Amino acid sequence: MRCTVFGTGYLGATHAACMAELGHEVMGVDVDPSKISKLEVGEVPFYEPGLQDMLQRNVDSGRLSFSTSYEEAVGFADLHFIAVGTPQRRGEYAADLTQLLSVVDRLAPLLTEPAVLVGKSTVPVGTAEMIAERARKLAPVGGALEIAWSPEFLREGFAVQDTLTPDRLVIGLASGLSGRAEDLLRKVYQKLIDEEVPIIITDLATAELSKSAANAFLATKISFINAISEICEPAGANVSDLANILGLDPRIGRSFLTSGLGFGGGCLPKDIRALMARAGELGASEALHSLREVDSINMRRRTKMVELARHACGGSVLGARLAVLGAAFKARSDDVRDSPALSVAGQLQLEGAAVSIFDPQAMDNARRVFPTLNYATNSFEACERADAVLVLTEWSEFKDLDPSELATTVRSRVVLDGRQCLEQARWEDAGWRYLAMGLPTIN
Ligand code: UGA
Repeated sequence: MRCTVFGTGYLGATHAACMAELGHEVMGVDVDPSKISKLEVGEVPFYEPGLQDMLQRNVDSGRLSFSTSYEEAVGFADLHFIAVGTPQRRGEYAADLTQLLSVVDRLAPLLTEPAVLVGKSTVPVGTAEMIAERARKLAPVGGALEIAWSPEFLREGFAVQDTLTPDRLVIGLASGLSGRAEDLLRKVYQKLIDEEVPIIITDLATAELSKSAANAFLATKISFINAISEICEPAGANVSDLANILGLDPRIGRSFLTSGLGFGGGCLPKDIRALMARAGELGASEALHSLREVDSINMRRRTKMVELARHACGGSVLGARLAVLGAAFKARSDDVRDSPALSVAGQLQLEGAAVSIFDPQAMDNARRVFPTLNYATNSFEACERADAVLVLTEWSEFKDLDPSELATTVRSRVVLDGRQCLEQARWEDAGWRYLAMGLPTIN
């Protein structure tokens, strides 16, 4: 089968490469010529484990190609995925649909033959209907243009695995159409369906909303455990043990109950805000009041981390040398969008600390956002003569650090574990003072 994928960011490039890996002929399309020129030669313009080799293999085999030309894309296939970004609007909670509308407005007028547009981006519920109407008005083929929504649930860092072995496939369809969209999508996903991936066929609104609701639930889980962490501290309880106890109840589950600096990235924070904004527009804002709290608990974590750093430095970080390990919003990613680690590092610098930072993958992206931090070339260098070491992204190479070796370079053996990812006993045995939010260690 042939298909195109509009948008070649984390989502689009992964989707295009994975569809090619499933055996289809795929063309990725983007308005950014610098991205396309990298992708064309098999180079992934961001860090995503496992994607580079897969993309290269499919480019080399000729199954995967890239272009900036909409005309070329329309001639190539009649199944078009749209995977562009829907970031938060500047100064507002709502999602910015500019990229999505721009794809539709450029693509639809070129559609002279029956075609299917499939949205993969996370959008406010109701967007697919709006897009369908808009596209049909612009498309010469009119009613023979079908729209479906097939939201993507992949995580950065596990994007390939999540696309090729997803927990579920969701296909939202408009009522009263020919069924062509469903046929094409079943064909393109056939190998996954054969592997017994559950497939849910539903309406457009349910498909769109299912994605926003899933992210809202995940964000709620994280903020719930972080709220409990705030109670653990004065009560002298241990939020890590507590999460393990909760997690053993299969109705609750252990995942997304790791307390720490909270969630960041290009998805969870903006998606809960967009969902609140959309609920308001639909007259249902009361239904999602809790998400406002989820958001503010989450943002409070960054403030609390800075407070913990002040506490570790005897009341103020002014003049302190602080090592920050981690800049990405999470491990296995180079993404620093809304990164809790970077925002804490920035705040510490604002308060007068000399911050030396290291991240295994996100250095270039971090430098673009915060050029004034001191960028070290490895963890050891970042920790040189540090008054405290803050681990703010849960990279495994930080978990594996040898506390005895690191002790030889720091000024004070104080470690702040912002992600509850270090083995407390190992660090304490090596003479470190170990501090973390939500653990009975704050002394
Ligand atoms: C998230 C969802 O998990 C995906 O299912 C979804 O497809 C994606 O958004 C999206 O909408 O595109 P992602 O943003 O890659 O994926 O990151 P997550 O793995 O969900 O982590 C989000 C944040 O929560 C990270 O900052 C992470 O460090 C934090 N987190 C996660 C915690 O603080 N505690 C946890 O227990 C888990």
